[in-house]
Amino acid sequence: MKVPEEIIEQIRRQSDIVEVVGAEIPLRKRGQNYVGLCPFHNEKTPSFNVSPERQIYKCFGCGKAGNAINFVMEFHGLSFPETLKSLAGKLGITLPQDSSEGYQIKHNRQELAYKILEEAAEYYAALLVEPIGRTALDYFRQRDFSTETIKQFKLGFAPDSWDATRKELAGQGFNDQELIDAGLIVEKENGRNYDRFRNRAIFAIRDFLGRVVGFGARQLGDDKKQPKYINSPQSIVYNKSKILYGMFEAKNAIRNKQSAILVEGYSDAISLFQAGIENVVASSGTALTPDQLKLLSRYTKKIIIIYDSDSAGVAAAEKGLELAVRQGFDVSIVSLPEGEDPDSIVKKHGKNTFNLYLRQAESFVEFKLSLYTKRGLLDTPPGQAKAIRDVVNIISMVPDRLQHDFYISRIANLMNLNESQIKRIYDEKSNIERRQNRKEKKQESPNVIRHGPALKLHDFDETDEIPDTQRKTIDVIESLLPEEYQLIQIALYDEESLGLILNKYNAGYDKFLTEDGQRLFRLITSVANKGNDIIDIIINGEYNEVDTQVLTQIAFDKQSPTKNWAKFGATIPELENDIHIRDIMLRLELISIDNEMQSVLKGVGEQPDAEEINALLTKTKILGERKNEIENILLRVDDELPED
Ligand code: UTP
Ligand code: MN
Repeated sequence: MKVPEEIIEQIRRQSDIVEVVGAEIPLRKRGQNYVGLCPFHNEKTPSFNVSPERQIYKCFGCGKAGNAINFVMEFHGLSFPETLKSLAGKLGITLPQDSSEGYQIKHNRQELAYKILEEAAEYYAALLVEPIGRTALDYFRQRDFSTETIKQFKLGFAPDSWDATRKELAGQGFNDQELIDAGLIVEKENGRNYDRFRNRAIFAIRDFLGRVVGFGARQLGDDKKQPKYINSPQSIVYNKSKILYGMFEAKNAIRNKQSAILVEGYSDAISLFQAGIENVVASSGTALTPDQLKLLSRYTKKIIIIYDSDSAGVAAAEKGLELAVRQGFDVSIVSLPEGEDPDSIVKKHGKNTFNLYLRQAESFVEFKLSLYTKRGLLDTPPGQAKAIRDVVNIISMVPDRLQHDFYISRIANLMNLNESQIKRIYDEKSNIERRQNRKEKKQESPNVIRHGPALKLHDFDETDEIPDTQRKTIDVIESLLPEEYQLIQIALYDEESLGLILNKYNAGYDKFLTEDGQRLFRLITSVANKGNDIIDIIINGEYNEVDTQVLTQIAFDKQSPTKNWAKFGATIPELENDIHIRDIMLRLELISIDNEMQSVLKGVGEQPDAEEINALLTKTKILGERKNEIENILLRVDDELPED
């Protein structure tokens, strides 16, 4: 159901951010805002700010920002329509049905597929406890799955028939096309469609909201010619790269324990869950994907990978760990003895032994190095060097640079080497990167002297996590000129202030001197005049994540005014706002004049002729005069300011 813009607006207006956030986490009043511990990342010092005035929240630790709707979405892991439904319910607003035909059709097809899959799951579950399902029930029993577990995970049995499922669901009124859409029957060229799952033990695959989206079907015998598992195909409701098996059951435990255990198989996840280790999800035999990590990161940034000890499992763990490290996860790995998987360990030795393994989880540095040892790579100096470079390479992907030194000393210890030797390789690598970065930056805007505002955005605790986007956010903010920062802040203040900048001072993005500043101001002007608060529009739009964070951060910083603003207190009278804009524009012009002077001087040859000298003098004279003029105006402006 697509909700009309007016209703979304009504929900937005009527939900109070302090109430909505306050219902989930304790908030304390500080100044005009409220603060609390951020629910989206680990921290000890509260940096999660809620502004009743702007009706937004902003975490200065991880950068997450949004309004009441975003908060409910993120916190409860709901989709946008689900969030609207929930908030509307609380506010007593009724949501109308959507009118857009295309949306309605797609939405209806999805709803129908969910319904069919739910019915199919029920059908398979019912057959499991009938005589016909005996083999499958025996199979699950032999795996030690309790009756309760079987129910909870919607396990079942698909009968040994080409059309039993199709007939059952046809009897409930679903046609072939609908069953094909749901992935339950396979389309044949001759029009004779047949059941996809036959004579197999059934694992219902659900999304994190608990909706059945597909099935994994395990062979009951040991027929090497048949695949061990047959899974549902990609469909309008099942995208395997976005699903983590067991997420619906595990999500609360993951949030509470602030860690997730990642296993390979359906039965691994079920066995651990049944044994009381509930924060477990399975990647279902596919390589871990960025979308799966994104889903996980709503609940935790810490994962423990426990894959099978076979070579496929180890390779998958190696790949998964790199991806997760790069996305800022704290990753550790448990290696199991030959031939074991998590399921076999809990089954044979119980929960306590499994917990012992968990406690022996290694950091990726240890895991990698012991792999290299096993592969004999560390026996030769070239092999050792390669191993170290590989591990250093992964370390450099950890977004939180504070952790780099820790990992470096870890390698040194493990390899009995001097820390400085490892550090040299690390420096070698980061120097190359830094040089490249600097080169790129230089090429962006050659004449700008960068002296961003010396902002103290947030005191980071050593152990706080700082996500990659937040680092980039800080980088962008620091690359802005103080004048640009202030101008953006005024532009975000209200439509009137932005109007002053645009109309009275005729300032377009071209008045900004850094590329970041230009891009940000262009973004602001592109969303202005849409009636709503600019920051709100940006937060709700699909704009670049870093830019969105930068702008919210600047908007939020309003209560810590710059030196001049402090003189006026928190609210800025119209007149001073106006003067302040003029002041900033003039300062920007001064900087660009200085830049131009420099480039004029640089452009002069070794032995200029008279004509060149003349041109040069005229040019610098004009620039110099304008500079004087500006400086005079600025002095006068300062006179207009009240003394403190
Ligand atoms: P495993 O072969 O380790 O299966 O594959 P398992 O779950 O431990 O199986 P049991 O214990 O023998 O029953 C791990 C996961 O890879 C996927 C499944 O999701 C499985 O749980 N897989 C495996 C497939 O999708 N197809 C296959 O043919 C094999
Ligand atoms: Mn396995």
